[in-house]
Amino acid sequence: MKTIKVAFFDAKPYDRETFDAVNRGDGVELKYVALHLSPDTVHVAAGADALCIFVNDLVTREVAEALHAQGAKLIALRCAGYNNVDLKAVYQRIHVVRVPAYSPYAVAEHAAALLLALNRKTHKAYFRTRDGNFSIHGLMGFDLHGKTAGVVGTGKIGRVMAGLLRGFGMRVLAFDPFPDAVFAQASGCTYADLPTLYRESDVLTLHCPLTPENVRMINAETIAQMKRGVFIINTGRGKLIDTRALIGGLKSGRVGAAGLDVYEEETDYFFEDFSSAVIDDDVLARLLTFPNVLITSHQAFFTREAMANIAQTTLANIRAFFERGELPHEICYRCGDATCQRKASGKCF
Ligand code: NAI
Repeated sequence: MKTIKVAFFDAKPYDRETFDAVNRGDGVELKYVALHLSPDTVHVAAGADALCIFVNDLVTREVAEALHAQGAKLIALRCAGYNNVDLKAVYQRIHVVRVPAYSPYAVAEHAAALLLALNRKTHKAYFRTRDGNFSIHGLMGFDLHGKTAGVVGTGKIGRVMAGLLRGFGMRVLAFDPFPDAVFAQASGCTYADLPTLYRESDVLTLHCPLTPENVRMINAETIAQMKRGVFIINTGRGKLIDTRALIGGLKSGRVGAAGLDVYEEETDYFFEDFSSAVIDDDVLARLLTFPNVLITSHQAFFTREAMANIAQTTLANIRAFFERGELPHEICYRCGDATCQRKASGKCF
């Protein structure tokens, strides 16, 4: 059987380690590329049967056309979100598959870690005690027990997060366009509309995909509806939040704290070391000045278990397509829904 050539973009040492451990070299050749996929770098994939890309590799129309001309047949996302792919541009040209779930626990646990650290100011206490400062002045938090959390999106990750928050003794409100009454009853959560979540939540945590409908759903108008001092946690996608509006909310005190694992303009910065450089993104730089903002660099997924699952599923996706013509985790081109059951019939809308 012909070797399947895969151009692996945005490859980091930990990607190589995990993928090489799973790929025993039998039939799949991974060509690791440190660059992001973009119109400027797409030529690097010439001769590849498939591409393996991550959250900040962009498949624009221009990239899709170039890939098609170069003969690529498959884009294998090694992540769950697919907002970085122009699905209309790849339609009938290149199939797109993803890893629908690798560890909802990893992401939800990280979201909870952001919340706990911000509330009890562990990120500040760490530096104080290392510096011999044992004062606790300014470190006061609040009991999560008895407070209200709003979970936006009750898919795989949102459900785990809801369970963790219930474990803290919180009242959990949830919003999802497809509410699941069985889940609500079993977990003790209550579905409500977004205005109710905004009005009543002490903690708001985002676990929905980024779609055209919810771009910047957290904006000046919705922040104005929120409870004063609300903690906003975002491990979903950066563009769910209008960052300038968030900064306004932080300055006015309407937003009590923000835990962000994702950022609107993260593509240029996240996953890279800029510790010796000047940050020329003034919005990101301003965010980093707040004592009540904790930013992590899209690392919520980053556990041993999740990485192993990502490598196994991605390689299985590639093999399934080239060896058997199967697309177990294909994203529907027509409706963009990764869970669309009717994509094979072409009758999804
Ligand atoms: P999922 O597909 O299992 O669940 C998503 C849920 O959001 C579904 O129940 C869906 O009905 C709901 N939803 C869709 N549009 C919505 C809207 N406008 N408002 C509220 N809910 C809406 O996805 P999963 O695995 O739970 O992941 C959620 C998101 O988390 C991903 O789309 C991705 O953007 C992000 N993610 C972030 C990671 C990180 O490392 N920071 C890692 C993995 C995922």
